[in-house]
Amino acid sequence: MKPSDELLAPHQVHLWHAFTPQQDEALNALQLGLLTPDERTRMARFHFERDQHRYLITRALVRTVLSRYAPIAPADWTFEPGPHGRPYITNPHLLAQQLRFNLSHTDGLVVLAVTTGREVGIDTESTARTAPLEVADRFFSRQEAQALRALPAAEQAHRFWELWTFKESYIKARGLGLSLPLSKFSLQLDGDARVDIGFDEGLDDSPARWRFWQLRPDANHLVALCLEASTTELVEFSCKAVQPLLSEDTLAFELTRRPRAFQG
Ligand SMILES: CC(C)(COP(=O)(O)OP(=O)(O)OC[C@H]1O[C@@H](n2cnc3c(N)ncnc32)[C@H](O)[C@@H]1OP(=O)(O)O)[C@@H](O)C(=O)NCCC(=O)NCCS
Repeated sequence: MKPSDELLAPHQVHLWHAFTPQQDEALNALQLGLLTPDERTRMARFHFERDQHRYLITRALVRTVLSRYAPIAPADWTFEPGPHGRPYITNPHLLAQQLRFNLSHTDGLVVLAVTTGREVGIDTESTARTAPLEVADRFFSRQEAQALRALPAAEQAHRFWELWTFKESYIKARGLGLSLPLSKFSLQLDGDARVDIGFDEGLDDSPARWRFWQLRPDANHLVALCLEASTTELVEFSCKAVQPLLSEDTLAFELTRRPRAFQG
């Protein structure tokens, strides 16, 4: 078995991006070989080829990337969903048990965040889509909806995607999905590229536990990251673009928002 070759320290976050171009049949077949029978059945249930393709790349990405961090072959990773659908690694190897991962897919991109020993949530959206601004009025916090509507009309769509991705990254880091009421916590995004979170009383959490960053891996996608980290900790990012089983490159990226209290 190939030894694990990626070192991951607790202060590091590794982000793996798979842009999802059409691939040739030979590569599809190789990636398909990594999937379990159950995953192949799920893939076949997608009606559209586009969704099958994204599912294939997602599973191949998770399996090949996780194998960089622990001596487990890509096809041998096992997962169980938690009570709110988040997949957890069940391989007993100590290195596997320490890993945390979260992924998100949207048109043209699958992104996977890997950390060790601390929670992480990630969300990506294609900003080429029309922003459903009315969703903010119905589901976001009052402060978020008001701040959004106070912006010049031309800036509202971008702010909507920013809020949406940050909110998703937080509920995904908690692993609780939409059982967390979206209106009970607020992201404060201001003009100086900083980001803070605040909680309503009754939502059992503290702003000091979480930090947020935003990246733009390309012109059409926003990525929001929520990491369990105190404001004094140094955090380091590494970003790669991969096509599973084919290629891997360092990805130049722009950090477009950071936590307020620390320049990490
Ligand atoms: C499932 C949910 C956690 C994310 O869904 P999503 O934004 O549609 O999808 P994403 O592509 O970003 O993330 C899906 C991945 O997150 C992971 N995931 C699933 N449930 C999760 C949970 N409870 N917590 C963390 N991660 C979860 C899975 O790996 C999943 O991918 P997979 O099924 O291919 O393994 C949940 O938040 C949801 O249903 N959201 C619906 C969208 C919405 O209404 N958002 C409100 C915007 S503020």
